[in-house]
Amino acid sequence: MSKIDIPNHTIFVCDGSKCGKYSKEIRRVFKDKIKDNHLKGEVILIKMDCSDNCDHAPVVSFQPENIWHGEVTERKAEKFFDRYILER
Ligand code: FES
Repeated sequence: MSKIDIPNHTIFVCDGSKCGKYSKEIRRVFKDKIKDNHLKGEVILIKMDCSDNCDHAPVVSFQPENIWHGEVTERKAEKFFDRYILER
């Protein structure tokens, strides 16, 4: 039996009906950061369903740190990636 690849970090980007309006741009920021920093496989990006935080759309979660942010802009997404992934 083969082993499951376990990433160091998982970034969940909400793709529910409210957050979905912004999620493509947010995911693009993370995809570029993962690629530019050669972190493919170490950091994975997952679209998640609505987490009932729609008033704070768009919502992003960093795991296993269990850090959640709402009202995420592209600029904030870049900063969060640096803070939670690169500087840890
Ligand atoms: S659609 Fe993202 S929290 Fe509801």
